[in-house]
Amino acid sequence: MKKIVFATNNYNKFNEIKYIFPKNIKLMSLKDLNFNEKIEESGNTLKDNAKIKSNYIYNKYSLSCFSDDSGLLIDHLNGEPGVYSSTYAGVPRNDLSNMIKVLEKLKNINNRIACFKTIISLNLDSKNLIFSGELLGSISNSIRGNNGFGYDPIFIPKGYNQTLGELSLSIKNKISHRALAIKKLINFLNIL
Ligand code: IMP
Repeated sequence: MKKIVFATNNYNKFNEIKYIFPKNIKLMSLKDLNFNEKIEESGNTLKDNAKIKSNYIYNKYSLSCFSDDSGLLIDHLNGEPGVYSSTYAGVPRNDLSNMIKVLEKLKNINNRIACFKTIISLNLDSKNLIFSGELLGSISNSIRGNNGFGYDPIFIPKGYNQTLGELSLSIKNKISHRALAIKKLINFLNIL
């Protein structure tokens, strides 16, 4: 049976993918490999960071591997916070401070267009493939709702009036950048 490693330390993400993963491929976690190192995400783009993680595991274990990296890109801020989304307001990561920083930067700004983006890098045998997903929307004027994580309470998906913090998780999981990128990856693996 073919084996593929999902290089993530986030077990919510791992379990979410495991549920929909093709049953003829064994999905392995970093825990299954007893891998405890921290991979430095030193890239300047989401794609670079996703590749760094999947390449590292592929080169170390000679096992096919994929990893993901996501971020919020704001039009008026030329794509910020982008690859720096998780620590935009400083280290350690603080979702509330990050949202406050964004709202401050967009104070009195009419252009509030933004998108979430996910990049998945897959190292399959000797090939590297990229899958991406985007969720278009806009930044609200205030923090609204408690659902989700990260910037969800200030992000209004296109076609909705509520933020992702107000919308249910089942709606988010149908339309999200991550869901779209994962769907593309699964479709690809299903036709192998
Ligand atoms: P990660 O690559 O999935 O860990 O995402 C990096 C950072 O981007 C997170 O720490 C969040 O700040 C932001 N982010 C990514 N995806 C989402 C999302 O679905 N909702 C809200 N924030 C997100």
